Amino acid sequence: MLSLNGLGKGEKLKLIEIFYIQKYLSKSHILVKMSRESWKSRWGFIMAATGSAIGLGNVWRFPYITYDSGGGAFFIPFLFALFTAGIPILIIELGIGGKTKRSPPLAFQKFFSKKKVGWVGWWAIIGAIFLASYYSVIIGWSISYIGLSPSLGWGKNPQSFFMNDFLGWTGNPLNLGGMNFGILAVLALTWVITGFIIIKGVTKGIEKCVKFVMPICWVLIMILIIRAVTLPGATDGLNWYLSPDFSKLSEGRVWINAYGQVFFSLSVGMGTMITYGSYMKGKGEIVNNSFIIAFADALFAFLSGLAVFGTLGFMASSIGVEITEVVQQGMELAFVTYPKAISMMPLGSGITGILFFSILLIAGLTSLISLVETASGSIMEAFNLSRKKATVIICLIDFGMGIIFATKGGFGWVNIIDLYVNYAGLIFIVLIEVILIGWIYNTKRLRIWVNYTSELTVGSWWDWSVKIFCPLFLIAGLAATIIDIIQSGYPKNNPYPNLAMIIGLTAFVVGMLIAYQLLQIQKVNTTMEKFED
Ligand code: PHE
Repeated sequence: MLSLNGLGKGEKLKLIEIFYIQKYLSKSHILVKMSRESWKSRWGFIMAATGSAIGLGNVWRFPYITYDSGGGAFFIPFLFALFTAGIPILIIELGIGGKTKRSPPLAFQKFFSKKKVGWVGWWAIIGAIFLASYYSVIIGWSISYIGLSPSLGWGKNPQSFFMNDFLGWTGNPLNLGGMNFGILAVLALTWVITGFIIIKGVTKGIEKCVKFVMPICWVLIMILIIRAVTLPGATDGLNWYLSPDFSKLSEGRVWINAYGQVFFSLSVGMGTMITYGSYMKGKGEIVNNSFIIAFADALFAFLSGLAVFGTLGFMASSIGVEITEVVQQGMELAFVTYPKAISMMPLGSGITGILFFSILLIAGLTSLISLVETASGSIMEAFNLSRKKATVIICLIDFGMGIIFATKGGFGWVNIIDLYVNYAGLIFIVLIEVILIGWIYNTKRLRIWVNYTSELTVGSWWDWSVKIFCPLFLIAGLAATIIDIIQSGYPKNNPYPNLAMIIGLTAFVVGMLIAYQLLQIQKVNTTMEKFED
């Protein structure tokens, strides 16, 4: 046993340095490094990251929240949340990924040089697996609706078609009512497509796919907007969407909505941006890229609002009712209201349906891919598995979990799980991240490094956001959500508040425990790994 006693300080340091050089230049280390893939081009990375960010949340959630939270006035809290929290956290996640070149659990360990911190990464992975399990179901529905579009297969009454004929909804999540094989089939198809793309790898699979489909998605939304605003009555809808009601800005709920929407939409808190950031070549322009991704995501959400509200305005004026009577959110907006509006169109209704559901499909699939890559990339690295094996494992777990959503009681389960994963889980993880970076790690050190990677730099406002703004708003948001859940069952008209709470809390605790377990059994430890620069 080597004793360092009796050596001078300089000599000790020298010895330690030699020890590390030897350790990290060992053969196995180089092998791991060489086998790690990276994006071929910056454009490919941006398409992948915007593909993850732009998702179902942009298409149906943003327009509704804007309308419900003060119309045009909502852009104030939204942009505020984007600058004070969304972009700073995106910089953190891309920064951690870019600096460590590791997937989330190992990235946290390496970044903070502490094994325990990897637990946060594993928890994020569990969140990603949960989100993917029902996100994939909704993508499956979109595939079915593309098929239904040409003949307007939802008929005259899309409400009853969606609930009864399509889902076979039993009206109660506890009554599973048997399997809905049609939905199971499209779910399986979604998983086969996703698995196939991810098995091909980061460049040959994901990058190739997003470089092809994301530009198409932008073109489709532009066409859809043109179609929508040229319909009679569209301007009424746009007025509702955009005319500002500044009085709403005094409601705390509106600000919390803005933060929730920004986090979900930017795909932070689930490890995805750490993963995608870790595949960047070299330094990776972290600040610049974060701004580009955030603006593209916000723009797409805004554009979706134009398409959705233009169409709703047309529909309201055709039936002769106020737009407030036709506005719906989330799944109902996409699968009930929108199809109904399409059926009323004088021209090209089938095509419009195909356009709309193709946008949902592309936006959703590219987000799903990012979630699955995050999970499979992590177990691949932490357990030394092949890409194929890791991907198949995650796809099977997620497909297995998704079976419950494909039953006739599944609609209720989608609603329950959505709520908890989305808000409680995601917000919690982001909160831990900002506390770790803001209060335990030296914020300024990370800022200096991300600035070094990028032409565009952030000033000390970023430190303040990470230290003060983000934790405060996150804690306020969490507190408000918890109070809401306890007082009234959340969301407001959730018919099964207690059930939702029990399931949600169970998922929450079980997720934490599994994450802890994964930390114990992971094979690779990156605590002492060296950074490249
Ligand atoms: N950003 C996606 C959306 O808006 C959802 C998502 C969240 C995807 C987290 C990946 C990770 O729909």
